[in-house]
Amino acid sequence: MSTHSLPNTSQNQPALTTNTSVKTTRYDSLYKVLHWLVGSLILLMLIAKIGFANAITTEDKLNMLIGHSSIGSVLALLIIIRVVKRFVIKSERPIQTIPNWQKRLSGIVHLALYFCLIMIPLTGYLSASFHQLPVMPFTLINLSRVSSSGYVEADFLLMRSIHENMINLLIILLFVHIGGALYHKFIKKDDVMATMTPSKKIKKVE
Ligand code: HEM
Ligand code: HEM
Repeated sequence: MSTHSLPNTSQNQPALTTNTSVKTTRYDSLYKVLHWLVGSLILLMLIAKIGFANAITTEDKLNMLIGHSSIGSVLALLIIIRVVKRFVIKSERPIQTIPNWQKRLSGIVHLALYFCLIMIPLTGYLSASFHQLPVMPFTLINLSRVSSSGYVEADFLLMRSIHENMINLLIILLFVHIGGALYHKFIKKDDVMATMTPSKKIKKVE
């Protein structure tokens, strides 16, 4: 039986076992858990587009704001851990065996994704602090500062529109990102997708 941790296709193995410049063949478990957890919660949060549009009564809006800011706060925490792991601790990542232009393109898309992942919660909190209604994550604290500073509609609308534009940019980037991942999985049939999917162990190659 093969000792290799990747799918046992003859196409996959040589790229990972003969290339001596490759040290780690997969993202580690924490990278993967953070990637898929943040990914799933972001997709859930995108439903807020429909939720906020359909919230007619004040009670509906308050409940939407509680749910949205609670999940948003959990996401913000996970994103902070992810950014620290990636850019501060600089945990080791696999070097993909793909053409240079694809490395450059995916590098730019990944950086742009991180940019959105930082800007969206940030502008979310700022929108919340300028909000006319109380925004209470887990009903614990009120993020709205309007009771002390007064409501300025232009400030709220500006922050909300940056929040919304960043979300629209994220959606466009996700089309490229997910399209790229599926292209590698189903057309190139290489190991790019396998570096981010669950496996029993991380294979180290000298
Ligand atoms: C909201 C959803 C998602 C976000 C925000 C996201 C974000 C990211 C980011 C920032 C990276 C770079 C990791 C790093 O090197 O630091 C990454 C890698 C990756 N993602 Fe996603 N992703 C999402 C959804 C998906 C989905 C649905 C798939 C599969 C269909 C996917 C497949 C991958 C793969 C295969 C990699 C490794 C690619 C490589 O290292 O070149 N992602 N993702
Ligand atoms: C991290 C991922 C987040 C995503 C994907 C996200 C997504 C969204 C979406 C789709 C909308 C509706 C925009 C529209 O109508 O087109 C929205 C609005 C809003 N979000 Fe977020 N959001 C996130 C984080 C946060 C956070 C952390 C907060 C604050 C704690 C927040 C506060 C708000 C507020 C106050 C609004 C405006 C609600 C209103 O119009 O009354 N968001 N967000």
